[in-house]
Amino acid sequence: MKIEAYKDIIPDFEEFRRIMATPQPYWMRVNTLKISEKDLIARLENKGFRFERYRDWNAYMIVESPVKHPGATFEHSLGYYYIQDFASMIPPIVLKPRKGERILDMAAAPGSKTTQIAAMVDDSATIVANDIRDDRIRALAGNVERVGATSVIITRGDARAKRFGMTFDRILLDAPCTGEGVVRKTPRKREPDLREHIKFSKMQMRMVENAYRHLKDGGVMVYSTCTYNPLENEHVVQYAVDEVGFVPLQIDIDIPYERGVREWRERSFEGIWDKVIRVYPHRINTGGMFIALLKK
Ligand SMILES: C[S@@+](CC[C@H](N)C(=O)[O-])C[C@H]1O[C@@H](n2cnc3c(N)ncnc32)[C@H](O)[C@@H]1O
Repeated sequence: MKIEAYKDIIPDFEEFRRIMATPQPYWMRVNTLKISEKDLIARLENKGFRFERYRDWNAYMIVESPVKHPGATFEHSLGYYYIQDFASMIPPIVLKPRKGERILDMAAAPGSKTTQIAAMVDDSATIVANDIRDDRIRALAGNVERVGATSVIITRGDARAKRFGMTFDRILLDAPCTGEGVVRKTPRKREPDLREHIKFSKMQMRMVENAYRHLKDGGVMVYSTCTYNPLENEHVVQYAVDEVGFVPLQIDIDIPYERGVREWRERSFEGIWDKVIRVYPHRINTGGMFIALLKK
């Protein structure tokens, strides 16, 4: 939809619109499987990079780069860091993966979050990273290899239907969506229309059902998208709770975010709106992200 359609649900809309017209900065995460934050930052600063670290998180906004694309370095080829928007780092942080667990990443390519999860558990878990598209799976495999994660098993299948043959402690469903939250990074010619939002929403619901089948009792799932439309966000989470059986959990994270949308076009999200979170570009200078934490 046109961004104006969200005027009533995005706070400080004028500021939001202003930042959407500016280029999105690159962010990066140090791959701690291969190098310490301190060593890499010193090495890259020596080469002319300048960073703004987000508080004491492993999340660095790149404010100066000696090369046009900040991934065009020897250190990047060696897998010492991963270019990833800070908003995209939040779903794995909310998922809180632990060593020794079985973790499923249902729509994983090109692997930003898979490789982040592998680093968070120090490569000591069983991580199944699935995607449907061959070309994107190649990129996923390349990234997993580059960062040196040996705990990742890659599968190809439809996240709506695939049977993984086991259950998991945690599942990340970073769902395919209309991507309105990444237009700052990748501008496009036209906005998605209502039909597309509905198409994605239905697909996301089928994926949520399949995620439920694969979660252990007591296991948790993070549902995330990089889009703004409530049909792909709150509506899907309300369905997950009312029809699938998930329990919504409060998200405990210390960053600026907004609560979910309470009502949208005759739909009310009474059961979940105050549990889910929305991250907007005008708060931390990122893309946009929607995140829900659900328990079986
Ligand atoms: C938002 S992107 C995932 C980004 C990824 N999680 C990351 O952080 O790098 C959504 C992914 O879903 C995949 N996808 C689309 N339809 C799918 C389906 N039916 N089953 C599995 N994956 C699907 C797309 O190929 C795409 O890679």
